[in-house]
Amino acid sequence: MSNESRVKRVLSGIQPSGALHIGNYFGAIRQYLALQHGNKAFYFVADFHALTSVRDAESLRGYVFNVLADLLALGLDPETATLFVQSDVPETTELAWLLTSVTPMGWLEKCVSYKDKIAQGIPAEHGLFAYPVLQAADILLYDADLVPVGQDQKQHLEITRDIAERFNNTYESPVFRLPEPYILDAVAVVPGIDGRKMSKSYGNTIEIFDAPEVVRKKCKKIVTDSTPVEAPKNPDTCPVFQLFKLFAAEDERASVEQRYRHGGVGYGEMKTRLAELIIQAFAE
Ligand code: ADP
Ligand code: TRP
Repeated sequence: MSNESRVKRVLSGIQPSGALHIGNYFGAIRQYLALQHGNKAFYFVADFHALTSVRDAESLRGYVFNVLADLLALGLDPETATLFVQSDVPETTELAWLLTSVTPMGWLEKCVSYKDKIAQGIPAEHGLFAYPVLQAADILLYDADLVPVGQDQKQHLEITRDIAERFNNTYESPVFRLPEPYILDAVAVVPGIDGRKMSKSYGNTIEIFDAPEVVRKKCKKIVTDSTPVEAPKNPDTCPVFQLFKLFAAEDERASVEQRYRHGGVGYGEMKTRLAELIIQAFAE
């Protein structure tokens, strides 16, 4: 079959290291759901990867179960897409070892996610260092064409392609397909309640299945400046607006954006509205 007529293979993974949040949903899961139709899709819970941060067996089992349940609740259809747990396929770690032997140290040393974690004081263990090689094995093992992820995974996708090319060149045969990242600009980095990227590791998340009163409380805490209600504000730098625009219908988004730019919108009002939109979006 020619490349063009072949059904595309889509693959992505999520670490079971805590409850899923709005950043995971818009940055990745929404694309999983859209791409499960018309493609051959594989989605998995990356429990081997989570071992770099979760050391308690009971917690890890719970997180794996919850991620699977949440993906199903959000609309992932196991009749259409393949949903699995990474460690159920031990060949993944076998391939990871084959790939490490063609991966220069320098590629891993320059990884931003590794450097960030070390800067946060997390011990420099080999698992954390070799994390991108295991991720490359995940992707290359399934011959993936497209990998839906958020912006933070872009570098890992570049390394995956580099490793695949190096392997193909070393063994003088095109063993591995080069995957493309699938990153949507508008949702590439969803901000958390402190204005940084929303992430489990920053403790700044609004969870998809937080109780309504928790969502309201977290929305109230979103960082804002002290611009008064009547003064113009920049929607592009305001985390409340950045979250609001993910949930609001187009006409409401446009009118609120106008009010930001001309003045007359207060952060308190926006936070209340945002909380209601979030609660409504995931109620079902
Ligand atoms: P976390 O950073 O909270 O640990 P994960 O690393 O488990 O999240 O990410 C799972 C998926 O969600 C990845 O594809 C990742 O790129 C995406 N993602 C995570 N946080 C965000 C965010 N704030 N904005 C956009 N995408 C995100
Ligand atoms: N590293 C990814 C994250 O933290 C999770 C992941 C593991 C992944 N293996 C993957 C994502 C393969 C896409 C493809 O979000």
